[in-house]
Amino acid sequence: MFHAHALSGSKPEQYDQLLTQARALLHGERDRIANAANLSALVYHALAQVNWVGFYFFDGTELVVGPFQGKPACIRIALGRGVCGTAAVTREVQLIEDVSAFDGHIACDAESRSELVVPLFEGDRLIGVFDLDSPVPGRFDAEDAAGLTAIAATYLAAIR
Ligand code: SME
Repeated sequence: MFHAHALSGSKPEQYDQLLTQARALLHGERDRIANAANLSALVYHALAQVNWVGFYFFDGTELVVGPFQGKPACIRIALGRGVCGTAAVTREVQLIEDVSAFDGHIACDAESRSELVVPLFEGDRLIGVFDLDSPVPGRFDAEDAAGLTAIAATYLAAIR
């Protein structure tokens, strides 16, 4: 059984611990669905003040919802639409302190107030995005972006 220990210390230290847990969780498994499911559960339960953590995968045309934790979500997101579609097109992390101020934000859970989306690329190939929502405005900062980008990189390395 996998035991996730409570995170402690500064935020970067906590992300270091979470990264170690993520590596252990994904070790030896390449299946992208299995790893996305377990990683969503790990992160959802490790972080405070998040109401949705999960994956959208690129199917060749648009983003399609994958494994996640949280309330049921919108299934398909066109490239360039919403925070997720913007991350996929710009290839840049989207750190949105107030989703109501983001033009085109797609509300899946009405409680969501802030959002962080990490694009997943294998070289030039779009794999999908890793998406986190919070009911708290401004929940995510640059340290969250760095920590979750490292976790996303671990995911990409595991499924390679
Ligand atoms: N808010 C996202 C849609 C996905 S949900 O947050 C799970 C967006 O604007 O792309």
